[in-house]
Amino acid sequence: MENPGKIAAATAALSYIEDNTVVGLGSGSTAKIFIEKLAERVAAENMTLTCVATSHFSEDLGLKLGLNVVPLDEVTSVDVTVDGADEVDPQLNGIKGGGAALFFEKIVAKASKQNIWVVDPSKESPRLGSFKLPIEVLPFGSGHVFNYLADMDLDPTFRMLDEQTRLTTDSANYIIDVDVSKVDDLHALGDELIRHTGIVEHGLFLDICDTLIVGEEPARVINRH
Ligand code: 5RP
Repeated sequence: MENPGKIAAATAALSYIEDNTVVGLGSGSTAKIFIEKLAERVAAENMTLTCVATSHFSEDLGLKLGLNVVPLDEVTSVDVTVDGADEVDPQLNGIKGGGAALFFEKIVAKASKQNIWVVDPSKESPRLGSFKLPIEVLPFGSGHVFNYLADMDLDPTFRMLDEQTRLTTDSANYIIDVDVSKVDDLHALGDELIRHTGIVEHGLFLDICDTLIVGEEPARVINRH
């Protein structure tokens, strides 16, 4: 079913896109709406955009809709990336990766001059941790990484496609979801996780989002100070 908040946020993000720029295409259902609306606008206004994608799905969708989607390494930087988020706090820190695209999403975000997140109001949270934090891990030795996360009292679970099959990401890795609701210092946790061998990336996106667009009527825009 269509979510009016996601549509409102994705629509409002269009006004941040200028002609002759490089645009990062996020992943997830809100980013999908943005990509569809962007393609309509590019065709209607005959715009010249270069796009880079944060997942195979968004790349395929953009190409199918006629957008000029190129590999990230073909651009020197990205002017603006529009992406969704799973949970975002008042400081515009967030948890991402509900759609398992966090690794490419973070690489594109770090290459972007401006990161805009488009969310419906349900994603706002006074404190991060109600959404489970996705952690992307190499399949090799992932049981040991799982045990390390269990020893940290993070209640890990492998993300599954079905009872027998672990989900694999666009990079053929696994996702382990953990509970960070009892963690006070998420910056310290993020630093520790990324240093642990076998962890490829985590879904803590701290100090990355510049502008949050919350899908209300009218859309609410919050800029990072
Ligand atoms: C995918 C993501 C998405 O941006 C996040 O899950 C939000 O998705 P949606 O817009 O469908 O709620 O991080 O890895």
